[in-house]
Amino acid sequence: MNQADNITGTTDTSQYVQWFRSCAPYIHSHRGRTFVVSLAGETIEHPNFAHIIHDIALLNSLGVKLVLVHGARPQIARQLDALHLNTEFKDGWRITDKQTLPAVEQAVGQVRLNIESRLSMGLVNTPMSGAALNVVSGNFVVAQPYGIHQGIDFAHTGKVRRINRQAIEQQLQLNNIVLLSPIGYSTTGETFNCRAEDIATEAALALGADKLIFFMDANGVKDESGQIIHQLNILQAETALQSTANDEITRLHISSALNACKHGVNRSHLISHHHDGALLQELYTRDGTGTLITIESYEDIRRASIKDVGGILELIQPLEQQGILAHRSREQLELEIENFTVIERDGMVIACAALFLYGDDAAELACVAVHPDYQKQGRANALLNHIEKQCTIKNISQLFILTTHTAHWFQERGFTEIEISRLPVERVKLYNNQRNSKAFCKPL
Ligand SMILES: CC(C)(COP(=O)(O)OP(=O)(O)OC[C@H]1O[C@@H](n2cnc3c(N)ncnc32)[C@H](O)[C@@H]1OP(=O)(O)O)[C@@H](O)C(=O)NCCC(=O)NCCS
Repeated sequence: MNQADNITGTTDTSQYVQWFRSCAPYIHSHRGRTFVVSLAGETIEHPNFAHIIHDIALLNSLGVKLVLVHGARPQIARQLDALHLNTEFKDGWRITDKQTLPAVEQAVGQVRLNIESRLSMGLVNTPMSGAALNVVSGNFVVAQPYGIHQGIDFAHTGKVRRINRQAIEQQLQLNNIVLLSPIGYSTTGETFNCRAEDIATEAALALGADKLIFFMDANGVKDESGQIIHQLNILQAETALQSTANDEITRLHISSALNACKHGVNRSHLISHHHDGALLQELYTRDGTGTLITIESYEDIRRASIKDVGGILELIQPLEQQGILAHRSREQLELEIENFTVIERDGMVIACAALFLYGDDAAELACVAVHPDYQKQGRANALLNHIEKQCTIKNISQLFILTTHTAHWFQERGFTEIEISRLPVERVKLYNNQRNSKAFCKPL
């Protein structure tokens, strides 16, 4: 086995090369960006944490500026148990009083030291062997009391008042990883137990981070049937927040991600700490494993521009070779590009369709194609609906199509077969007898 085989588990080196090239745009676009990564206390105790540490080191070596925020819920609970102390939770907030604060400090301190030591020493005999990482912790979080709610004094439970942005940025400029604990200090010199999710969100906002990433126990956000939803916009995330399909901690993460999204962090990722490589897959491939919450429409249906010619050709050429689509040269496509509509996903054209007008009231739908990885999820349907709406605006009453392989797909969507002679005269002249396509028409 050569090195490529070791990495990809395949004997096909060209696949490895292809895979590596497919990561290149992400390596390029993430370099110099700031990502805030929230590590739940449970994540740190999980056997997969060793891999997560290596992946964090890899991100650092690929030029990503990293702020890690760790939680310590299970560690605090154990420390309190050992000391026979009790704390209560109210509405997701732990009540930390004078008696329990030392136990919180001790547990948080131990977790922090554990992470620092693993980032310093844990890379020997690993894929990141030889990487020198600097981790910096400090008084980066200014806190204030959470206060008294419904008569209950939350005492040393705090909320974030301010993140010391400048101090963190100075460390990031030096290529240091900044590690934030779920503890903040007040301007009066007191210590407060804060929620790690809040610190992560506030840090991401203060730093104008490009991404906020939450590691968690669940695989992502679930829909009502228990399926993972891979992408949510703000409205959908708000619905998921109300759904009991997601546990309380996942809902806390959704809420933090929503807050971050609404205030300027474009992309928040919720990923599982069980899944080896989830962080790399989420960041360096087109389809991650968890849930992306974003204000952007990650997939966009839009009119094509000249920049899409390469992407469309890549999509349609295999179909042309199979005789499913009629051949189009690059030059022809460049001339016709204005007629095309594409679905773009994270910079890649994954579907296309073209519309050609004949006279005032007829149009041909052509070159409908969806990338094989993205078929059977309603994208061709979405393209058809989009194009039908455009036709209606243009007062087109007859939409027709010529096809060799896909007759039923169109028939199931309201198209009926017509004689070739019933096509517009100009189209009949262009008809390719060798392809022997059938014609279908849909009244709009
Ligand atoms: C046909 C095509 C555009 C459908 O794209 P898509 O995004 O998967 O379509 P949708 O998700 O909206 O619809 C999927 C349904 O269409 C069905 N379908 C796919 N290809 C079909 C075909 N050739 N004939 C009939 N039905 C077909 C699928 O089986 C699925 O039905 P199901 O959910 O009942 O299983 C896609 O398969 C493709 O690109 N094919 C190759 C190019 C092509 O044939 N283009 C048409 C040129 S005229």
